[in-house]
Amino acid sequence: MGRTILRAEGISKSFSKVQVLKNVDFELEAAETHILMGENGAGKSTLMKILTGVYRKSSGKIFLENENGDLEETDFHNPKAALEKGISMVFQEFNLMDNMSIAENISMGFAPAKHGVIDWKAMNEEAVGWMKMVDLNLPPTTIVGKLSTAQKQCVEIAKCLSHNARIIILDEPTSSLSEKEVRTLFSLIDKLKKEGISFIYISHRMEEIFEIGDRVTVFRDGEQVGVRNISETTENELIRLMIGREFKDKYSDYDETKERQVAIEAEGIITSKFDTPIDFKAWSGEIVGIFGLIGAGRTELARVLFGIDQSPCGVLKKDGKILKLRSASDAISNRIGMVPEDRKELGLIVKQDIQSNLTIVKLRDLPKILTSTKKETQITEHYIDALSIACAGRKQLVERLSGGNQQKVVISKWLSLKLDVLILDEPTRGVDVKAKAEIYEIIRELADQGMCVIMISSDLPEILRVSHRVVVMHDGKITLDGLTRNYDQEKIMHAAIS
Ligand SMILES: Nc1ncnc2c1ncn2[C@@H]1O[C@H](COP(=O)(O)OP(=O)(O)OP(=O)(O)O)[C@@H](O)[C@H]1O
Ligand SMILES: [Mg+2]
Repeated sequence: MGRTILRAEGISKSFSKVQVLKNVDFELEAAETHILMGENGAGKSTLMKILTGVYRKSSGKIFLENENGDLEETDFHNPKAALEKGISMVFQEFNLMDNMSIAENISMGFAPAKHGVIDWKAMNEEAVGWMKMVDLNLPPTTIVGKLSTAQKQCVEIAKCLSHNARIIILDEPTSSLSEKEVRTLFSLIDKLKKEGISFIYISHRMEEIFEIGDRVTVFRDGEQVGVRNISETTENELIRLMIGREFKDKYSDYDETKERQVAIEAEGIITSKFDTPIDFKAWSGEIVGIFGLIGAGRTELARVLFGIDQSPCGVLKKDGKILKLRSASDAISNRIGMVPEDRKELGLIVKQDIQSNLTIVKLRDLPKILTSTKKETQITEHYIDALSIACAGRKQLVERLSGGNQQKVVISKWLSLKLDVLILDEPTRGVDVKAKAEIYEIIRELADQGMCVIMISSDLPEILRVSHRVVVMHDGKITLDGLTRNYDQEKIMHAAIS
């Protein structure tokens, strides 16, 4: 057993009348990576926000190791107070100023000054020191807006280090990183751990939990339901703890003998970032998984199929007829839908409730599907139930939902429209295991009813599990296309990198 440096005892938290944390205990040791797991809305982010002074706890105690090595009761009234005690958090949406330099971002609010003015030279030099620690080899004057997601994350971590962080909290840090960037992050975590830094790591990705974690604490419905050493637990046990029962998802078979029509087809189209023409076909009744590393051109292809971008050449066809799409709303009128990748672009109106968000998809452009308020209520209730959206009811404001539950609302909105072609770009990012399985189930049902589902995913096990056909992209080109069951992980990965 290592040395405990942080202990939270009996933490409870209520928002107005809803109790979202119930008497939760949590412990962190020096130099460990402690995973937090739990379904969407279980309370993980809320506990972290309490530990970093963003929210105030309703009751409970927090103890933190002091200079003498004793645990001392503390309470953070604001994030600055937590920072000063060495607790930093990297939020999923990052907290960086895109128009400022790396050095300015790192020293934000704490820049060295000489005679009352910022000492730029000292600031840049100090930044280089922190940047070295996170292996970020760029000039400190580089503008943050130009960095990749992975590099921005390094800047965030460098910023934590500059505050002498002893505890760094990462909330779903790998959700928009490529495989290679994940490797880099993991070796950085290992390196910093050796220097005595502890990590609290929130994740829904089973594989990485077993790779990076030392211990795991599981949350269910606002309660802490178990703490395990990673080396002594299994995936099944963790799932059981998370959802309170055994869990198996159902598979539906793909009937290859069935006659199918090509639903959507692209011939010789060019996407915004690449100049190789692409041919792509998807049949009704099938789920086609598009795999590739981040930057392979998958989203760019989807943007053309959904009318956001226009190809200067080639043709698009739907049900055999030439299709001219000038905008996304053109696509929707042609019964093509898309769930975009970026949560911020998801088209959620966070100041409105779940029901409005679920039912206002540019209805003008659609043949009347939702007709009455009663029907809308029914549909909303149906999806809240089907995807276990953790909420206080269909009238809850979307901004009050946890990250994963917001994602579920977006997906529900598109699933409920019963279109002919539905493109899902990374649909299960940030979604818990159980909801993932529920989403897969719904996608399969929709395909069984004849919908053509195009699912872009960087999660290879997900592609293998869900899609009937797999298409792999690399560098703007399609490098593999075939029935999923004829391929294994290795072959697909190979096609994605060469
Ligand atoms: N400011 C708020 N006002 C009201 N309710 C809130 C607020 N913030 C969070 N909640 C509710 O608290 C519950 C826990 O949310 P939290 O964000 O901690 O979940 P989470 O475990 O991080 O989930 P996810 O995996 O989806 O990120 C949710 O039901 C959420 O709707
Ligand atoms: Mg969260």
